[in-house]
Amino acid sequence: KPSPDAAPGRMAFSRITQEDLAFFRKILPGRAVTDPDLLESNNVDWLKTVRGSGEVLLRPQTTEEVSQILKYCNSRNLAVNPQGGNTGLVGGSVPVYDEIILSTALMNKIQAFDSISGILTCQAGCVLEDLSHYLEERDHIMPLDLGAKGSCHIGGNVATNAGGLRLLRYGSLHGTVLGLEVVLADGRVLDCLATLRKDNTGYDLKQLFIGSEGTLGVITAVSILCPCKPKSVNVVFLGCETFEQLLKTFQLCRGMLGEILSAYEFLDTECMRLLNTHLKLPNPISDSPFYIVIETSGSDPAHDEEKLHNFLDTAMTSSLVTDGTVATEESKIKALWSMRERITEALTHDGYTYKYDISLPVERIYQLVADMREHLGERAKSVVGYGHVGDGNLHLNITSAAKDPALLVAIEPFVYEWTARSRGSISAEHGLGLKKRNYIYYSKSSQAVALMGDIKTMLDPKGILNPYKTLPDNLK
Ligand code: FAD
Ligand code: MLT
Ligand code: ZN
Repeated sequence: KPSPDAAPGRMAFSRITQEDLAFFRKILPGRAVTDPDLLESNNVDWLKTVRGSGEVLLRPQTTEEVSQILKYCNSRNLAVNPQGGNTGLVGGSVPVYDEIILSTALMNKIQAFDSISGILTCQAGCVLEDLSHYLEERDHIMPLDLGAKGSCHIGGNVATNAGGLRLLRYGSLHGTVLGLEVVLADGRVLDCLATLRKDNTGYDLKQLFIGSEGTLGVITAVSILCPCKPKSVNVVFLGCETFEQLLKTFQLCRGMLGEILSAYEFLDTECMRLLNTHLKLPNPISDSPFYIVIETSGSDPAHDEEKLHNFLDTAMTSSLVTDGTVATEESKIKALWSMRERITEALTHDGYTYKYDISLPVERIYQLVADMREHLGERAKSVVGYGHVGDGNLHLNITSAAKDPALLVAIEPFVYEWTARSRGSISAEHGLGLKKRNYIYYSKSSQAVALMGDIKTMLDPKGILNPYKTLPDNLK
């Protein structure tokens, strides 16, 4: 029996011909790449666990070029894999077979920024960190931040509905994205690029594309609401004896820090071991079973410091936390954030990584790690837990020295059944991509999945956009 995350057979899409290549070379002079060496990195995902065999990489610069590409591919029945920074973690960003890779890497122009409203409009291929730098010079920040910021594109962020480290404060992209421009499978350009906070004229179509993982259209431009740059930022790194205390600290922190709380993240001692061993990052405090990263962002340093001081004082005197360090200076803030942001990287050095990205009622999130450890016993190399406590989002990661099909069978569907019993989501923020598409029923009803299938058929009747991804192989 094939593993549920195995690719299904190649669907009956056309094969690329010399005429097709001539067309692409004509509309994208010098930007239709076929050299296998140059295509190598576009065919392999960030985790190096999924490899496609795309033979053509198209690098459009404009919406009009994307429109021409899709119109042509749709008429020729050629499958297309939209790709941003290729940092996705569920195998959605690379071809499964020979899908044409449509990269947004050259669509990196900022189109407008209104410093009064804080609304930024840009092409989909802008790198998240470049946008952050651009905005910081204008006293603003992006409403999202994630460890992949140096490579991921804003279009990819929207296509995956990426959550990240600031969601607790600024909310999801479903709230901060104000408008999208999307090219549909047949080449039609859907202009929903509004820059309005309020717009209740009919159905909010852009929401369909947020989190659609390249299966419904290619996002070509984004308008997004950006907060003012906080005048004061503090980061605290704390140690905690139990997860229960970590949750009590969260409760205390929400009450005492209130509106200045901008992140509440955690990692366990196993993550710390991987950071120490593989990245040589020293523990900034004494060893603890759990660690917390708290960030505050506010407008008055004295006010924020006073609040933070009172909170830390209470947390320490009530023995909720055992040790801690505070950073107000940028380089130390960065160093403390590295302890959380670089866990993903540390895991890749530990071995083959099985990644789970689960939403649960917050008080349940660490129980899954404990149960999984017990369930797997000696079979796994490492079982680690970290994530976005403030969002009820656990990242459970398991490693083995090499890819181990028997281990995978032990993990799945155990992890999904456990999650479904707690009425959690089997994909909190990474999407379903190739790896998790067939597990969708653990979190969505068959009616909901069937309606998703209808929407897919309506927008992409030939199924050329990112086939084999997001939706299950056999729609019930
Ligand atoms: P890609 O990986 O290129 O693509 C991802 C998906 O979107 C694919 O299905 C692709 O087909 C589709 N897509 C890409 N661009 C477009 C487009 N323009 N139009 C239509 N479809 C498109 N995720 C989180 O949610 N929170 C985190 O904190 C987080 N941290 C991460 C840290 C690291 C170190 C890494 C490697 C990844 C992390 N991720 C996180 C995963 C996250 O999904 C991606 O980093 C990011 O959102 C993907 O953007 P990308 O441009 O790399 O997209
Ligand atoms: C994170 O929060 O660090 C990211 O979602 C990446 C990961 O899950 O490893
Ligand atoms: Zn995450």
